[in-house]
Amino acid sequence: MKLIIVRNKEELGARAGGMIAEAINAKPDIALGLATGSTPIPVYRELIRLYEKGELDFSRVRTVNLDEYIGLPANHPQSYRCFMDKNLFDHINIDKSNTYVPDGMAQNPVAECARYDAVIDRLGGVGLQLLGIGPNGHIGFNEPADAFSERTLAVRLAEATITANARFFDKPADVPERAISMGVGDIMNAKKIVLVAGPEKREIVDMAMNGAVTPNIPASVLQNHRDVTVFIIRE
Ligand code: GLP
Repeated sequence: MKLIIVRNKEELGARAGGMIAEAINAKPDIALGLATGSTPIPVYRELIRLYEKGELDFSRVRTVNLDEYIGLPANHPQSYRCFMDKNLFDHINIDKSNTYVPDGMAQNPVAECARYDAVIDRLGGVGLQLLGIGPNGHIGFNEPADAFSERTLAVRLAEATITANARFFDKPADVPERAISMGVGDIMNAKKIVLVAGPEKREIVDMAMNGAVTPNIPASVLQNHRDVTVFIIRE
């Protein structure tokens, strides 16, 4: 794993965004794996900037998001579909029918997981996966567990995650407790992985990169991937 320490959000956006832009230019119909959270926002801002400058074309790009809350409709302001529209898709020339996010309102979450796996397979897997990391080392919504997950799954969120997400909702009862997430196996299948983390994640990033590979720290599995770049913002 390669570690790049950046000074601030702007540098994170420029460098991680630059890597993604390079991947799009090399393969204009790339399948990008995308993430939500506050850390990727400057990365998306950079992609929008490059598009506005005429340096990036999303017309053939396909995207597949890591996860979605169960129980939130696409038009809910805290849904990840809404996040992606607001922070990226509404500002670039992507064909929205080429953007995939799990359906958090699916009647049958298990069937939705299978449908999402079929989407990932149809895209030929992920070319470049952008990842954040949870305070407990989760990637996507793959929480600490006894084993690494393989494919898309419905999960119960860890208490630490529910607490961390509470800031986005009016009252505790509104915070979703379940989600659909791409599996660790799906993430590991990506050809290239770019993980972005803020200064508050320094310790967990260090454990994930340098500690034992264990499903108790899901991000530690990335040590087994050939092409991972980790960007961390210096305090
Ligand atoms: C949520 C997402 C994760 C993301 C994490 C970190 O839990 N499901 O994919 O990595 O948030 O968010 P932030 O970047 O805001 O710290």
